[in-house]
Amino acid sequence: MQLETFELERTQSLWENTVEYNLTETGIHPLTLRELLPAPELERLYDIPIGYGQTNGSIELREAVSALYPGADRDNVLVTNGSIEANFIALWTLLEPEDELVVMLPNYMQIWGLGRAFGMKVKPFYLREELGWQPDLDELGKLVTSKTKMIAVCNPNNPTGAVLTDEAMSEIVKLAQGVNAWLYADEIYRGAELKGDETPTFWGRYDKAIVAGGLSKAYALPGLRIGWLVGPDDEISDFWARRDYVSITTAILSNRVATLALQPELRQKILERNRKMLRENLAMLTEWVVEHDPLFKFRPPQAGGMTFLSYEMDMNSTELVTRLRKERSTFIVAGDSFGMDGRVRIGIGSEQDYLQAGLKRIDELLVDITAC
Ligand SMILES: Cc1ncc(COP(=O)(O)O)c(C=O)c1O
Repeated sequence: MQLETFELERTQSLWENTVEYNLTETGIHPLTLRELLPAPELERLYDIPIGYGQTNGSIELREAVSALYPGADRDNVLVTNGSIEANFIALWTLLEPEDELVVMLPNYMQIWGLGRAFGMKVKPFYLREELGWQPDLDELGKLVTSKTKMIAVCNPNNPTGAVLTDEAMSEIVKLAQGVNAWLYADEIYRGAELKGDETPTFWGRYDKAIVAGGLSKAYALPGLRIGWLVGPDDEISDFWARRDYVSITTAILSNRVATLALQPELRQKILERNRKMLRENLAMLTEWVVEHDPLFKFRPPQAGGMTFLSYEMDMNSTELVTRLRKERSTFIVAGDSFGMDGRVRIGIGSEQDYLQAGLKRIDELLVDITAC
């Protein structure tokens, strides 16, 4: 198997802990257990035997997850080690080598890279900035064929922060239905909307829709490593059987904390805390972009802790972020990681002082660059 480097994840893994300002994250500044839970709940955690637990996820957690998806019950849920494991298992289970996989780009590049490694025929369809980061539906219509086995989307999208319109969602469902393909939606940024309602889920729109979600982004709890798959009972059983070969289970303590975080009142509190941070940080970043006009431009995200900026500078994006990392100990993501040079992704989920200091470091580098 030929595996291409997962550039986005690999560069982050290499450098995110070595810099002073890491602005590569797309989630929100993580919560501590103390911030999250009242003392009596913390106290109860001490007494949980640290066993394997229920390997498809505790019943209470699967029930809490299924409550987020109308019509679903606990048998429609497999709890996974982050949504990254959800994506891996879904792709590995549902498709065979040579199958045609139509994938939204730009994207978190896992499904794109894995599909290629598994020998699938990966056909990208693009979100277009001139269409407000929506897909060109005619173009997508031409790409989907009778051989298409899956259409995979990321909604809200990483890195653009765009949310599909209702029209686009309906058309994607129609196209998948028309060729009897799986519709796979990575919805990990759902709940991190900057304004308006929660992004609608693809779950329930089509009997072959499978969605992934998790606590790493909108809930600011990435270290719990809790993600999930929601799908038809039979496929959820198949996913579980495959997962036996991968990681057996998810951590029992994480299952308990995740269950508590998903109880309606606490869930609401977490999401409100996070959306407030994102709104305030987006306002600050927007000001920064305006100050740098016309060097940087961007379409504000609708959801998620990230902004995807284009820049007017005669410099490759990898070179720009490498200089920023080496010379100013500040880390952002190169557009190259998404196959889109001339852009950078800057996270807006950190604490405000930290983000501000990171942006100042970018300013310092820009002064150096323009002085040359
Ligand atoms: C779209 C998308 N899916 C999945 C993941 C993996 O997240 P997790 O930490 O839940 O495994 C990420 C991480 O950045 C992501 O952006």
